[in-house]
Amino acid sequence: MSKKDVVETTEAQIAVHWKEEDYYYPSSKFVGQANLSDPDIFERFSLDNFPDYYTEFAELLTWYKYWDEVLDTSDAPCYKWFKGGLINASYNCIDRHLKDNKNKTAIHFVPEPESEKVEHITYQELYVRVNEMAALLRDTAKLKRGDRVTIHMPMSAELPITMLACARLGVIHSVVFGGFSASASADRIVDSQSRVLIVTDAYYRSGTLLDHKINADEAVKIAKDQGQTVDTVLVWQRYPEKYSSDTPLVEGRDIVVNQELSKYYGVRVEPEKMLSEDPLFLMYTSGTTGKPKGCQHGTGGYLAYVTAMSKYIQDIHPEDVYWCMADIGWITGHSFIVYGPLALCASSVIYEGVPTYPDAGRSWRIAQELDVNIFHTAPTAIRALRKIGPDEPAKYNYHFKHMTTVGEPIEPEVWKWYESAVGKGEAIIVDTWWQTETGGFLCSTVPGIKPMKPGSAGPGVPGIHPFILDDEGKEITEAGIAGNICIRNPWPGQFQTIWGDRDRFVKTYFADICRNPDSKDWQDWPYLAGDAAMMAEDGYFRILGRIDDVINVSGHRLGTKEIESASLVVQEVAEAAVVPVAHDIKGKEPDLYIALRPGVEPTEEIARKISDAVCDQIGKIAKPRKVWLVPDMPKTRSGKIMRRVLGAISNKTDVGNVMTLANPEVVEEIRVMVQD
Ligand code: WTA
Repeated sequence: MSKKDVVETTEAQIAVHWKEEDYYYPSSKFVGQANLSDPDIFERFSLDNFPDYYTEFAELLTWYKYWDEVLDTSDAPCYKWFKGGLINASYNCIDRHLKDNKNKTAIHFVPEPESEKVEHITYQELYVRVNEMAALLRDTAKLKRGDRVTIHMPMSAELPITMLACARLGVIHSVVFGGFSASASADRIVDSQSRVLIVTDAYYRSGTLLDHKINADEAVKIAKDQGQTVDTVLVWQRYPEKYSSDTPLVEGRDIVVNQELSKYYGVRVEPEKMLSEDPLFLMYTSGTTGKPKGCQHGTGGYLAYVTAMSKYIQDIHPEDVYWCMADIGWITGHSFIVYGPLALCASSVIYEGVPTYPDAGRSWRIAQELDVNIFHTAPTAIRALRKIGPDEPAKYNYHFKHMTTVGEPIEPEVWKWYESAVGKGEAIIVDTWWQTETGGFLCSTVPGIKPMKPGSAGPGVPGIHPFILDDEGKEITEAGIAGNICIRNPWPGQFQTIWGDRDRFVKTYFADICRNPDSKDWQDWPYLAGDAAMMAEDGYFRILGRIDDVINVSGHRLGTKEIESASLVVQEVAEAAVVPVAHDIKGKEPDLYIALRPGVEPTEEIARKISDAVCDQIGKIAKPRKVWLVPDMPKTRSGKIMRRVLGAISNKTDVGNVMTLANPEVVEEIRVMVQD
């Protein structure tokens, strides 16, 4: 599918309910208390003053030693921010708050079973637990600065504790979303060369206690086959009585963290003084090939950026109770549950489960009980809650002053329900557009300065200078025309490279639009985000969706190639093609088209086998809406599968002119199969 086709399809879908210039203004009460209400910030953060204005963000942190240089571009486009500075992320998120705030709650953890107690962890307790875990990682697991460790854990307080313990030692963590399969975990273990894997025994989701340890056993096996040995598996036990017998510990490899920690009672670990440009973590994300990319984030630049975004866009004040509903296994959780809010000494809520179980009131009960006043979620959750419990928020006594939407475009009518029903007409909303690669926000309104516009992310945040290119690489300066959104300048939250693959990093995000590949000047290396967008007259950007082969399902990025490769593991499959289908809650779902090998009869059983293979290898979130066993793929004369045609059939839109295809007759056959 060409970039142009995608822009056109997505635009047509959104245009139906779009009304430009539909502004909502923040209340004077909100503006009065906002961390940022001086519009001069945009002047200060103009390109002329770049990159020195970013020192304002770095000053929000505590440094052992200040930087020698704000931005080193000598290896462009791999940049070093605050080069030569010495800093530790764990120190900034914990230690520096102890003097004045040790008894303040750092983390509220809400387990799924409502009968279980909510954990309230103070900064002092967090300090103690992170230190003891760091000692265990250092002395039992023999991890040291620069090592990578894979963490495959669902949501619980132990997850940020483990991440912060890694950061304390300078160990690079790679957190894998808990819902991902053993095979996805293994791929990440191999790519990051982790010899230590950290997991949880079991967790609840929608009322079922799931065995998670079993994924570790499988992942270790798969990784070994691919040449990476995991010698230590650290298991956090939450439900030992239930699962210890099902998946027994492996002698010499598995260590129960809860028991082992007793050896480290009261031990303190001095935070490593890390160079600002040292990597803090890897976060794998889907790309256009089957192999996920390990986005490498640095320490000083990343932390400065997410702290500033938490302060100025999330508007977090020390007294706020802040709840970001995302999973820590995604970038949103890293930046806006863990690092940003804790660096600001906020109280951050973590919850286990899903927003709609046991009923559509769960989120609002949590908000009421914990006095949450800043709320952060994704359109997919908002759509689900609007569908099954539109009147639920009104039944609970909570008050949000600020709300966020992130992860996908939000339809204006869904935005309006969010504003009136969830926000009770009292909260401002920021629609934040950004990516795993970007560490923090790119486009959003500054809540105390700019009005909101439903369905539109907003202008670049202070310091970010977006622009639109057409498919030929020419800048579109006119409003209202869709193209590829790019960022003119580097920023401190930007990832440093793809782990172990600088060429792929340059090729994917810069090469197509680079002005001079030999240049060491950042001006020649704008960043290509991979999203289609258009700018309005007022300088606000409306994001239309991905232009590359990535599908955004419930705000989760899945590579079409990843799903296709997973289905090709099934012996009977000859060819596979995945297309996104619009879904009223998830945003998009993958539809999987399969051509079987000659002589194989299409059966329900094969379709099921293919669907299961996708779930096994990636995770349930990648489950196809439907597996279509088609007689042949529509192809161009050069043999390219026409995904655009399949996409049109799945979405019941016009397939366009197909007469130039090598096999136009198959289009009608497939259409009848899918639509009738
Ligand atoms: C999409 C999640 C519209 C976009 C933070 C991007 C959005 C991809 C928005 C990144 C938004 C994210 N409006 N689309 N506010 N936020 N996206 O890496 O397509 O999981 O490229 O990071 O989500 O997804 P990722």
